[in-house]
Amino acid sequence: MQYFIGNWKMFGVPRSINILNKINSFSSRDKNRNKYRIIITPPYTLIESFANRFKDKKIMIGSQNCYQKNQFSSDTSAISPYMIKSVGAKYTLVGHSDNRAEGDTNTMLKDKVSFALKNNLKVVFCIGENKSQKRNNKTFKVLKKQLTKVLKKKFDKKSIIVAYEPIWSIGTGKIPNQQDLLKTIIHIKKVLKTIFRSKSPAVLYGGSVDEDNIDMLRKIREIDGFLIGGASKSSKKFIDIIRNYYR
Ligand code: PGA
Repeated sequence: MQYFIGNWKMFGVPRSINILNKINSFSSRDKNRNKYRIIITPPYTLIESFANRFKDKKIMIGSQNCYQKNQFSSDTSAISPYMIKSVGAKYTLVGHSDNRAEGDTNTMLKDKVSFALKNNLKVVFCIGENKSQKRNNKTFKVLKKQLTKVLKKKFDKKSIIVAYEPIWSIGTGKIPNQQDLLKTIIHIKKVLKTIFRSKSPAVLYGGSVDEDNIDMLRKIREIDGFLIGGASKSSKKFIDIIRNYYR
């Protein structure tokens, strides 16, 4: 099973559902439809209406983040996994580099993963090195730490997906070369195997994925799917990514 996840970030108003209507009508007729799953993470404001519209359809809805406490609290503007689940989301991203940059620590991320799973949300846990860590050959070490500090053996592996998103690649048009990326995905899967003491969960790639570079990315069979930012805001680009992947 391959995953195509569209992360809308701060994008979208109710009428943006048209983008998803087009993606839905493509994927409901696509001959490869049983080979992949589509997940869209719109802003919180759109989760409920989108989840209702696509109930029992090919597209599943997730949130871009969640709070590290359960149910309700007195933290202004916080939204818990319980609240997200209650409006129909099935997934949540955790640890996107945008949120790490805003102060998400490993301890917070561990609580986010834990509460999301307790509330029956599946987790897409994002990891990735920055430019200077890459330059100094620290990538493997950084990724291992990000994984081992947050993911624990007791977590339900079947409800976790890991997304490798090098920070220097997000929104820049730059992607890792094929060899480096293959090695990194293998490294991540090895670390995950050690954590869970069994087969690795799915590992996705994210960072400037588009309808052109998917041609190279599809050759790396170890990649179990893609986390797509910018290109997921266009139905044409998102559909072309899927089309080109199965070409
Ligand atoms: P991008 O974003 O595809 O625009 O690089 C990816 C992400 O931040 O998840």
